[in-house]
Amino acid sequence: MEFPTDPNLIIGMDSMDDAGVYKITDDIAIIQTVDFFTPIVDDPYWFGQIAAANALSDVYAMGGVPKTAMNLVAFPIKEMDISILRKIIQGGLDKMKEADVVLVGGHSVEDKELKYGLSVTGFIHPDRILTKKNLKVKDRLILTKPIGTGIINTAIKGGLASEEVIKFVTHLMATLNRDAAQVMEGFPVHACTDITGFGLIGHVAEMVVDSDFGIGLWSEKIPIISEAVDYAAMGLVPAGAYKNRKFREKMVDISSSVDRSIQDILFDPQTSGGLLICVDSKSANDLLIRLKNKGMDAAIIGEVLSEPKGRIVVN
Ligand code: CO
Ligand code: CO
Ligand code: CO
Repeated sequence: MEFPTDPNLIIGMDSMDDAGVYKITDDIAIIQTVDFFTPIVDDPYWFGQIAAANALSDVYAMGGVPKTAMNLVAFPIKEMDISILRKIIQGGLDKMKEADVVLVGGHSVEDKELKYGLSVTGFIHPDRILTKKNLKVKDRLILTKPIGTGIINTAIKGGLASEEVIKFVTHLMATLNRDAAQVMEGFPVHACTDITGFGLIGHVAEMVVDSDFGIGLWSEKIPIISEAVDYAAMGLVPAGAYKNRKFREKMVDISSSVDRSIQDILFDPQTSGGLLICVDSKSANDLLIRLKNKGMDAAIIGEVLSEPKGRIVVN
C-alpha cells in the first residue's frame, strides 16, 4: 500500500511506531494516536480509566506530552443502561484530568458490543522524539510496570482471581505512564516504546527487527505480577500469548532454563503496560532509582547487543 507523503511527516504509517508525529514548526510537532477496546474489567468507572490511560500511553512512549483528546464510544443503547456509559466516560475524564489533558469532543455509535477509547494529540520538540529505533550497543532496557496482566485478566474471566489481585491489576492498568515519561526526560534515553498487545517480547522485537542490533533479556530481572506465574502454570494463558509467540518465535532464542510459565508471560499481551526505556548504560542505575522513588516497580531487564543482529536472546 502506498501512503501519502509530506515533508513535515516525521513518523508515519511506514514506521510502525507508537504514534504518528507531524512537524508544525522547528520547535513543535504534534503526536497523534488512537486506541479503543472492549471492557477488560467489570467496573465501568475503572474500565474508563484504564482505556484512557492506555490511549494516552503511546504519546508518553514517544517522549511527548498529551494535550487534547476525543472520546470514541460504541454502545448497545437498547440492551444496556445509559448510566454504565456515564460511568465509563467519567472514568476516562478523571484520567484525562490527572494527565492535564482536555477533552475536546468525540463520537459515539450504536453497536452490539461496548467499546471505549480515545484519540489523543500531544506535543513534542521535533529533536526529542523517541522512536523504537536508534539503539546503541550496551544500552540498558528498563521496564516500568510488571507484566502478566493478560494472564490475570484470563483468570478474572474464569472467576479464579482473588479480589486482591483484581484490585492490584486494575490499579496497575489505570496507572498513567506520565511519571515514567517525565523522569526519563532528564536522561540520555535513545529509544522508547510501551508494552501492549504484542507482549514484552513482541515489543522488544519491534526494536531489533531489521536493525544492526540484538537484545539480551534477563528473565530473572523482569518484574512479573506473582499471581500470573501461578495462573500461567494452571494454563490460564490467553490465545493472544500463543499468537504473539508464533509471530515472533523465529527471532527469539530462549534458554531451556527459563520456566515454561515465565516464557508464556514474556509473550502475554498487556493492557496499558509500562514503558520500555532504552537508556545509555552509564545512566541506567540512576534512572532506575528515580523511577523507583516515584513508586514504580521498575527494573533493568536486559541490554542491547552487537550480536546476534535482529534477534532476542532470553536467559
Ligand atoms: Co505503543
Ligand atoms: Co497503540
Ligand atoms: Co517511542
